[in-house]
Amino acid sequence: MKALRASVLYFSGPAQAVLESDGLLVVGPNAQGRQVVQAVGSYAGLAPRFADVPVEHFPGRIIAPGFVDMHLHYPQLDVIGSPAEGLLPWLENYTFPHEKRFASPEYSSQVAAFFIAELLRNGVTTALAFATSHPESVHALFAEAQKNQLRLITGKVLMDQHSPDGVRDDTGQSLADTEALIQRWHGVDRLGYAITPRFVPSCSAAQLRGAGELAAKYPDVWIQSHVAENKDEIAWVRALYPEARSYLSVYEQFGLLRPRAVYAHCIHFSDEDRALMRATGAAAAVSPTSNLFLGSGFFDYVGADRAGFQYGLASDVGGGTSFSPFHTMLAAYYVGREGQTKTGVSLSPQHLWWQHTAGAARALGLAGVIGNLLPGCEADFVVLNPQATPLLARKTAQAASLDELLFALIVLGDDRVIEKTVISQAGS
Ligand code: GUN
Ligand code: ZN
Repeated sequence: MKALRASVLYFSGPAQAVLESDGLLVVGPNAQGRQVVQAVGSYAGLAPRFADVPVEHFPGRIIAPGFVDMHLHYPQLDVIGSPAEGLLPWLENYTFPHEKRFASPEYSSQVAAFFIAELLRNGVTTALAFATSHPESVHALFAEAQKNQLRLITGKVLMDQHSPDGVRDDTGQSLADTEALIQRWHGVDRLGYAITPRFVPSCSAAQLRGAGELAAKYPDVWIQSHVAENKDEIAWVRALYPEARSYLSVYEQFGLLRPRAVYAHCIHFSDEDRALMRATGAAAAVSPTSNLFLGSGFFDYVGADRAGFQYGLASDVGGGTSFSPFHTMLAAYYVGREGQTKTGVSLSPQHLWWQHTAGAARALGLAGVIGNLLPGCEADFVVLNPQATPLLARKTAQAASLDELLFALIVLGDDRVIEKTVISQAGS
């Protein structure tokens, strides 16, 4: 066991943050030998109970849960910042040509290593990521995550139509590859598999049906896809499925809405779509920097909360513009302000932070496992330096409440604030 003394941030409930200003975080192995939180609270209250545990002191620092990124694309690392008229030309002109390169295992491994280092540099300790349609790209990312003991969920992209040579796959082979990858990687160490139909236009009905059958056969495997991101994309889906009630309902028809199904964007939804998300237990990955960059639209927070479906934050790199959870939280704040209701909402800093940690964990079906620092949670955390820049030091010194402190970090923070990222270790 060991203990860390610093200010400690954790969540006592949804969007309810607690900051122990002189806190202690005690970590030690669980029954399986994995490092988990054993206790959290005030230093004065806990120190006598853990008197023989060595304490590392981080004066002036904040220990907080590692961030959870609910949706991003590791092969789009080099696609960040590619301008386009909108989603479909962006896919055609930048994304698909780039993803072709991941047929190479060497190239995949090289990008996977950079990608994981970049997640850790930004304080992200769990990610649900797209690979490409090449199984090699999945092996490369899993292998790199395993090396770093990271909790990572990914999958081979399914795309057997309306996709160029080099990324388009074969229906039967793609489903066989998916099942083989599930058997090879799902549940190994901290790795999880996600069945990954790219989006409705890129998948034949046979491929979507096969994906749904695998989702039923492997109920604790994740599903990840995109929905209702862009108006041209939605018109395309309507032309492909004129009888469907909505874009989202196409996924329902193929058995692809269930708990652990995570849909990026969810912007252009009706209340019926929102109710369907709620009823099926599917979750939204809100991707504000991507939606602003590609001009896709604004996630409707008020509508989501009215329906009561699960959601959390995502960078959506490379449609998204930053790996930094601070940038994503700030963009989410802008989106709340500008949202589809007349007045917009002013999302609280505790709510924004929760969406990128414990709230995202809950949306992934991993509440109590990651995203928080309550006892039993895996010991993934970040050490934050609120004095990382002169302006941050000045601003955080004046913070008169937890909300003011968190808002200063959200608005002014970036990777410079992340002094250290700690990943829960096994067998120590
Ligand atoms: N829809 C289908 N593929 C993609 C992708 O790679 N990025 C985004 N943002 N939307 C998509
Ligand atoms: Zn995406």
